[in-house]
Amino acid sequence: MKIGIFGAGHMGGAMIKGWVRSNNISPEDILVKGGKGKTAKLLQQDIPFLMTDDLNKFNEVEMIFLAVKTPLILPVINDLKKYLTQNIPIISVSAGVPVSNMQEVLGDTYPIAQAIPNTPVQINQGITGIVYSQSISNLDKIAIYDCLSLLGIVEEISEDKIDIFGTLAGCGPAFVDVFMEALGDAAVLHGMDRELAYTVAAKMVSGSANLMLETKKHPGELKDGVTSPGGTTIKGIAALEKEGFRYATISGIDTIMQSYK
Ligand SMILES: NC(=O)c1ccc[n+]([C@@H]2O[C@H](COP(=O)([O-])OP(=O)(O)OC[C@H]3O[C@@H](n4cnc5c(N)ncnc54)[C@H](OP(=O)(O)O)[C@@H]3O)[C@@H](O)[C@H]2O)c1
Repeated sequence: MKIGIFGAGHMGGAMIKGWVRSNNISPEDILVKGGKGKTAKLLQQDIPFLMTDDLNKFNEVEMIFLAVKTPLILPVINDLKKYLTQNIPIISVSAGVPVSNMQEVLGDTYPIAQAIPNTPVQINQGITGIVYSQSISNLDKIAIYDCLSLLGIVEEISEDKIDIFGTLAGCGPAFVDVFMEALGDAAVLHGMDRELAYTVAAKMVSGSANLMLETKKHPGELKDGVTSPGGTTIKGIAALEKEGFRYATISGIDTIMQSYK
């Protein structure tokens, strides 16, 4: 499978790493167009993908991902469409540009998707939400799905849910990172070596997440299994709730959602 991608920054780079790490796509099958900076060139030193500024070359790939900053998505599409000689599916990974906006540039029948991946795609443990344009063929859908599935789970979602999906899945990793850092600080406060503290925090978070996924138990039920009556864990939870732990989390997600309005 030959993939084209515009932008190899945080998200584009994470996707490229995941595809190559999956062993299903070799670096020579990835064609990258970078910007005026150096992010793509720096990544190319580690992963020898092809790079070009010649947009004609994108006629040779099976699908084109756009991983540039949101304000650049439509100008990039506008430029690219002048060079494409066939309807190669275009998938934007930008949070802020719905399929309908891309259709205004490419037309209603052009195969388009908006996909929101998250940074764990670089280790093939991501989750990507995807909205397809209405007229896209099943063959194109399957090809895009197969390509993104190399990076983790893919969920088709409705367009009105893409913002909350992107907030939870795409921004959420930063919330978890702050949580793990705080746990590490607390462990260091109590004398644990920092490196070990971060390893314990990360393994505890990933193990708890996997337990929920595998058992399909409600998170409250799993929490109840750790909190014995009058025990120490419930005292810790009471202290967290006193500091507004749940509300702080809800408020973090809600603040991001409000910022889209
Ligand atoms: N970061 C996340 O976790 C995340 C999650 C979901 C979705 N997204 C989406 O991913 C997109 C990119 O975000 P990011 O965080 O990866 O930004 P980023 O790190 O700044 O990367 C943007 C990339 O775009 C390249 N670029 C700039 N102008 C270009 C052009 N005209 N043609 C081709 N490439 C160009 C830049 O290359 P140079 O450095 O070479 O100029 C850079 O590699 C955004 O639309 C965002 O909504 C991000």
